[in-house]
Amino acid sequence: MCGIVGAVAQRNITPILVEGLKRLEYRGYDSCGVALHVDGKLQRSRSTARVAELESQINEAGMQGFTGIAHTRWATHGAPASHNAHPHFSPNEANARIALVHNGIIENHDELRAELSALGYVFQSQTDTEVIAHLVDHMYSGDLFETVKLAVKRLHGAYAIAVFSREEPHRVVAARQGSPLIVGVGKGENFVASDAMALAGTTDQIIYLEEGDVVDLQLGKCWIVDVDGRSVEREVKTVHAHTGAAELGPYRHYMQKEIFEQPRVIGDTLEGVTGIMPELFGDGAARVFKEIDRVLILACGTSYYAGLTAKYWIESVAKVPVAVEIASEYRYRDTVPHPKTLVVTITQSGETADTLAALKHARSLGMVHTLTICNVATSAMVRECALAYITRAGVEVGVASTKAFTTQLAALFLLTLTLAQVNGHLSDEQEATYLKQMRHLPVAIAAVLALEPQIIAWADDFARKDNALFLGRGIHYPIALEGALKLKEISYIHAEAYPAGELKHGPLALVTDEMPVVTIAPNDALLEKLKSNMQEVRARGGQLYVFADVDSRITSGDGLHVIRLPEHYGLLSPILHVAALQLLAYHTALAKGTDVDKPRNLAKSVTVE
Ligand code: M6R
Repeated sequence: MCGIVGAVAQRNITPILVEGLKRLEYRGYDSCGVALHVDGKLQRSRSTARVAELESQINEAGMQGFTGIAHTRWATHGAPASHNAHPHFSPNEANARIALVHNGIIENHDELRAELSALGYVFQSQTDTEVIAHLVDHMYSGDLFETVKLAVKRLHGAYAIAVFSREEPHRVVAARQGSPLIVGVGKGENFVASDAMALAGTTDQIIYLEEGDVVDLQLGKCWIVDVDGRSVEREVKTVHAHTGAAELGPYRHYMQKEIFEQPRVIGDTLEGVTGIMPELFGDGAARVFKEIDRVLILACGTSYYAGLTAKYWIESVAKVPVAVEIASEYRYRDTVPHPKTLVVTITQSGETADTLAALKHARSLGMVHTLTICNVATSAMVRECALAYITRAGVEVGVASTKAFTTQLAALFLLTLTLAQVNGHLSDEQEATYLKQMRHLPVAIAAVLALEPQIIAWADDFARKDNALFLGRGIHYPIALEGALKLKEISYIHAEAYPAGELKHGPLALVTDEMPVVTIAPNDALLEKLKSNMQEVRARGGQLYVFADVDSRITSGDGLHVIRLPEHYGLLSPILHVAALQLLAYHTALAKGTDVDKPRNLAKSVTVE
């Protein structure tokens, strides 16, 4: 999703801005741009192609400057077109005084647009952002910091902005409310960005701005005021951000690489876990886990499916009731809060706007015990929650989440065992058995990944289909949902998932010999029931693609294709089965020739509502 970089320095900042944009590319974007202060004028370059293309444009134009801002845009208001790309100028291109970039959504943009149009501003774009540029220009008093402090009071919605003026050559002013923004402190130079990774290699001295902060960046000065306009000191942290995605190595796409990294990153996530203890989740977890009598999980997308899997685990092993809510729904729903709830957010990025807002909503209802399962230790979510388990998936570049999901599951299984222990439902013997199984996970998942050649053969069939159904039962129903999501995200094949018992209540009407039906069929207590559901599909001519377990008696036959996973893995079986489904989605997309790592219309980090 959108990314911001800005800089004030005494050297040419173009390479820093471009490099910052490249580091933000993983979030997904459809256009990009840079604006610089050049010889008393504002100059900009924008593109609907990749950042590398923008870089060539900038180099050809010989653009250089000491002060500037840059942006990757993921369209919300207005099509992905050059005239909608940021930075936006005001009052107009020929006489630009203000340049501005923005992440987020301004909800009262229509009202502001009408007001500014009446004042004579002519809009060049369909974006909500352009209203902020004109608003700042209209209110401009010769002091950009004072102007922005007043201007943001007129904005409703979520924003992170960075702005500079032709009339103040060594100054960038930035502000945030609801969208992340950090400041990078250098020696005699200062920077602003959406995340610390954008500034890796430039500075590791990072300030995380808080909600409502406005910051004045000058050469040797960084001045912050809070939401009430009071001058505040924010802690400067040393952050060793990843310098970006690792090399692809032998892989064709980051998604494929990330699927194959799962044995290692699951091992990393569980490293150091020698026994089950609440402290794994942070200081004070023992007290909190004793106090709570239910769990509320808030998450979106793939992380939500991790939450659904955890519900099955926690209720069956720890005997604690669990509700799982889609974050974007929860925040607007009337619910019945309960103070003894452990609110668990699950998020790879830690910056998902809906999940952050849902957490705040839960807290506003009096639920103060918060825990996050998150992959980014420096993210807003980790800062917001009292307790945390940091998964160690490493940077995930592919928009379709894979290794983040399985490491979330590993962490959630640890949470399950911990709650079971606190509630007296985990004997020492059970603890030892589960821990042994968890330690063996990297080997078990590697064995599933070795099935890739068989899965490739299936993918060729899938690539010719327009629709697919995914069936699972019990703990594998959320895995069926995740398998369908993976397939639709990257291959654009319409895919739906059902608990297999639901088939006869409606979706069976869709089954013909053109409908591939992926069935997750481990050797568990529900297998016999599932076999009946499979018969229902076969009787209607549906083509079954079954992921069974090694000792299963399901065998390939007419319209029945079977791949056996190497071992049955009990409660942890979802972690193995999902790896097979990830490969199926990946190879189907590959066969269709889609942009696997950057699927159309999607962004990696969803920082707007
Ligand atoms: O960063 P988060 O885990 O909070 O992201 C949540 C979803 O946006 C994310 O899982 C999304 O559904 C992925 N594209 C799924 O592959």
